[in-house]
Amino acid sequence: MQDLKGKVAIVTGASRGIGRHIALQLAQRGADVAINYRSRQSEADEVVKEIEANGVRSLAIQADLSQMPAARSLIRQVHDQWGRIDILVNNAGITKDKSMKKLTDDDWNDVLDTNLGSVYATCSEVLKIMMDQKYGRIINITSFVGQAGNFGQANYAASKGGIIAFTKTLALEMAKYNITVNAIAPGFTETEMLAQVPENIRQQIIARVPMGRFGQPEEIARAVVFLAAEGDYITGQQINVNGGVYM
Ligand SMILES: NC(=O)c1ccc[n+]([C@@H]2O[C@H](COP(=O)([O-])OP(=O)(O)OC[C@H]3O[C@@H](n4cnc5c(N)ncnc54)[C@H](OP(=O)(O)O)[C@@H]3O)[C@@H](O)[C@H]2O)c1
Repeated sequence: MQDLKGKVAIVTGASRGIGRHIALQLAQRGADVAINYRSRQSEADEVVKEIEANGVRSLAIQADLSQMPAARSLIRQVHDQWGRIDILVNNAGITKDKSMKKLTDDDWNDVLDTNLGSVYATCSEVLKIMMDQKYGRIINITSFVGQAGNFGQANYAASKGGIIAFTKTLALEMAKYNITVNAIAPGFTETEMLAQVPENIRQQIIARVPMGRFGQPEEIARAVVFLAAEGDYITGQQINVNGGVYM
């Protein structure tokens, strides 16, 4: 199905993990897809090739999105090259897990700047473009941790909870321009982010998930593509794709 043909999408943090699968599935539906990465250029170049194999355009843009000027520049570069932006997926994110007793100011600022500051900056830059087009689909990747909290993740939980509140507010303000703004909240998903977790803790995590397994990045991507392609009357929502770990 090529129902996104002619649409231009940006996916942040798409050199690997969930972002890579979102980018590939948007391309399979016909969208031109610009991907962003922070440091892994060769992996990003591979994703570009995989996207282009669907007969659509792609490009990879290096930008450290914890820096707001870089995040704004990412949006402008894609617009300068392709002339429109229909879909923005804010996926880039990091963890720096420590209990509050050990958390440093740098741990706090790095995670808040990367996960939340970047979403503010890309959105504020893309809105002018989408308002002119009278069309936009913004999908922000949050986490069930932003809804439930999680031991050792005060910084991450605050960033992801902030994304949910930001998403709802932006949805209210942008509805009249035919710009929808939604969030996808994954549960524990099998990517490098989860691979950092020691095996004994991974087993404890699986025991907490009613479906008894981790999510796959493809499963998160399918919900994103649904919102982008078929969610015309859905805005201000958070969709949980989490195997039941938070209901
Ligand atoms: N995995 C999970 O269990 C899980 C659960 C809930 C929510 N999430 C959320 O889902 C999103 C994707 O997670 P993931 O598991 O796929 O992560 P991942 O495998 O660690 O990949 C992270 C991606 O973000 C990019 N990135 C990191 N910092 C960046 C920065 N400052 N500027 C630009 N790009 C940056 C990385 O680029 P490089 O490759 O260049 O470093 C990479 O493409 C994140 O927002 C995460 O919080 C994940």
